[in-house]
Amino acid sequence: MNLRERSIDVVLDNQTSNGAFIASPNFPTYRYSWFRDGAFIAYSMDVVGEHDSSGRFHEWVATRICAMESTVESVIEAVRTGRPLGPDEFLHTRYAPSGEPADEDWPNHQLDGFGTWLWAFEQHLAMSERAPTPSQSQAMKLIVEYLEALWDQPCYDCWEEHGDKVHTYTLSAVQAGLRAFGRLTNSTSSVVDAIAEHIEGSLIEDGRYVKFAGAGMVDASLVGLAVPYASVEPSSPVVRRTIEEIEAELRATGGVHRFRTDTYYGGGEWVLLTCWLAWYYYSVGQTKLGDECMAWVEAQATDTGDLPEQVVANPLDPEFVQPWRDRWGPEANPLVWSHAMYLIADSMR
Ligand code: BGC
Repeated sequence: MNLRERSIDVVLDNQTSNGAFIASPNFPTYRYSWFRDGAFIAYSMDVVGEHDSSGRFHEWVATRICAMESTVESVIEAVRTGRPLGPDEFLHTRYAPSGEPADEDWPNHQLDGFGTWLWAFEQHLAMSERAPTPSQSQAMKLIVEYLEALWDQPCYDCWEEHGDKVHTYTLSAVQAGLRAFGRLTNSTSSVVDAIAEHIEGSLIEDGRYVKFAGAGMVDASLVGLAVPYASVEPSSPVVRRTIEEIEAELRATGGVHRFRTDTYYGGGEWVLLTCWLAWYYYSVGQTKLGDECMAWVEAQATDTGDLPEQVVANPLDPEFVQPWRDRWGPEANPLVWSHAMYLIADSMR
């Protein structure tokens, strides 16, 4: 089984006719498309040269965002006038295979996916040597205005939790998106510097980045600050300390956990995070450490070459494995984002 080839197939098989990527085909809760997962998946397609696939995803995003222009405008107006926004007034996070926003109770207000989309879109344009279509340009503009209006307000994090906090990872993703837009349009946003000040001023504790102010703990998604968002220098002392802490707190048996208090399916080891750490190590030239992460990931593939969301052989909190299986079924497998991160890290070897 060639895991690279299989991963490309898994991604392509899970792209709908309108361009969206389904997060996981046989885990009902994930039979939807997320901008966060989708942006990384699209980037993985650019990395392996499947630009038509990534291009179709970006066109789907642009069409969706343009269709939600009135939502964007009403949110911006509310922020401008100080009108409090209800949970149903924000752009959605999950989209049905039809392309429409999923219509159910979900922690919908999550900003990181939009920032990551802008970042991945700039990468797509560069790698495929394409120029944005009019609808893509319009979608970028709308999302930039949306992010500039909301960046300093609480929203759910990339794990769809803690909706009352401002998250370090989310800020970094938003900043990366705004910087990508700035490069594409020769413009600058004052929010880019404001985010940098906020991260350096309030989100470092004990010499390392934290999940959110006062959290006192790391979250494995903090790797994203260095790679790919480049909010901070990957080899800076604070990043190094953060990586050491992730290794010490969240990586005992090979795979990377999300955060110490995770109870989702018991808090297993996440394939995509282990690939992400490999991506970081390869970026800073620590090849051996990257290879170790990738060896663990490869050992988790099923006989058919599928990669799950998480492996629960060594959960942080074993009592929570079965309750989640009873509620939502076995762990998601394959998770398309896991395959995407494998492809990205693999391309760095
Ligand atoms: C994760 C999200 C992800 C979603 C779909 C959730 O459990 O927390 O980060 O976007 O699954 O893969």
